[in-house]
Parts: sequence; C-alpha cells; structure tokens
Amino acid sequence: MARKPLVAGNWKMNGDIVANEQLLTALRADLGRALLSRVEVAVCPPYPYLGQAAAWLGGTGIAWGAQNVAALPNGACTGDVSAAMLVDLGCQWAIVGHSERRQMAGETDAQVAARISICKLHGVGVIACIGETLDEREAGRTEAVLGRQVDAIAAALVDPVHRLPAQRVVLAYEPVWAIGTGRTASPEMAQAAHRFVRERLARQGYRHANATRILYGGSVKPANATGLFAMPDVDGGLIGGASLVADEFLAICRAAAA
Ligand code: 13P
Repeated sequence: MARKPLVAGNWKMNGDIVANEQLLTALRADLGRALLSRVEVAVCPPYPYLGQAAAWLGGTGIAWGAQNVAALPNGACTGDVSAAMLVDLGCQWAIVGHSERRQMAGETDAQVAARISICKLHGVGVIACIGETLDEREAGRTEAVLGRQVDAIAAALVDPVHRLPAQRVVLAYEPVWAIGTGRTASPEMAQAAHRFVRERLARQGYRHANATRILYGGSVKPANATGLFAMPDVDGGLIGGASLVADEFLAICRAAAA
C-alpha cells in the first residue's frame, strides 16, 4: 500500500507576524512542485495567523491547518473556533487530541472523537494525536493506552456520517516523553507502535486502516528523520520545534520525499 508521506509543522504557540513571514517565504521558495509531488506538506500556525498562512501559501500546493477545532458546530463556546470557520480560512487540516491539549486542557478521548466527527461533517482533514507518557511506557502500558485512544478515534471514523476520504484521515503517534525533549523513539519503537495502531484501527472496523497515514512526532530533526521515515508504517512526521526553523523543516520534508 503506497501512502504518500505527509509532513506537518505544528508551530504550537510560537511565531509573530514578522517571523512567520520569513518562514513562509522560505517554504514557498524551496518547496517546489517536484518535491510536493512526493510529499504532502502542511503548516499549522496559531489561529490568528491562519489568514497570513493562507495569503502566503495559497496556490503553492503547501497546505495549512489549525492546531485544534471546537467540538460543537457553533454557538456559546467562548474562545473556540469552529470547523466551518476553518473551512472559511482555507484550512485543509485540524490537529486534534494533541497531548498538550489532553494534559493542559484535560481533553478526553470522547472530546477528541467529537472533534473528529465535526471535521468529518465539514470536510476538514484530521490529524488525530495519540501517545503514551513515560510513566505509562515504563509500566508496560503503552499498548493499553494507545488502544484506548485509537478505539475512541476509530469509533468516530466508522460512524457513517463521513465526508472525509481516507487520505484526509491521519493519525500521529507522539510519545509524550519524546515531545520537545530531544529524546526520540527509535525507528524500531516507532514502527512497533505504528503497526499496533494500524492493526487496532482495522480491528475496530475502520475499512481504510491500510490507507491511513500514521505520522511520528516527538523531537524529529533532520538527523533522525531518515531513519524514522524508512520504517514501513511511518508515513511522515508531525514536527514541533524543527518546524520553526526553515532549513530544518525543509530537510525533514526532503527526507520524507526521498
Ligand atoms: P517537537 O518536535 O518539538 O518534539 O514537538 C512534537 C509535537 O508535539 C508536534 O505536534
């Protein structure tokens, strides 16, 4: 099953109008059509900069997306941004269930599933994040945690109200202990987790498990990207820190395209 790799930059709460412009200019200049025919690339800036991303990236073939999306369609949700608004801003993607949201905002598996459902309704591509903490891994609970997280995602995916083609449904395995720590999962560890996730998706009745891209995230850098992306079930990366440095992000995109 040939899955086109995806590299998505999660800028988190970083950037400003000037720095963003420099970064977007570099991406626009260096990510040519030839490269983009081999790797899909997306950037996910904070909400206030989505319009800036649209202005700089429109027509380039580089996509942009949001770092979250409201679980409800509209209404009394102060501070939230709806899927329909993301569509208005040309977003092709929304990250859901990032571990920082699960940890800092107490997001539950049920809320993550609700966000996926709303993205499906509005045709926004989903990058659904999962991953175990260090304590969970050391207690031998990695598969139990991933299984629970994947089951909730799969339940939302198999729901028949579905307007997302398989290539717009992406999972991201991000071991919490590897995020922003400089400590990466070895390629073999990533592969084992990705394989487990894919099989679990299939077991839960999601027909497109084999076509679903599963990204790895957690301290991906140019130096470790090639080894990770060589694994058969690692279909690209969700990049934090290195996505803020044009040369590093571009090198990671090239590694995924190789
Ligand atoms: P880092 O690449 O900075 O470890 O962040 C990974 C991440 O959380 C991407 O969503």
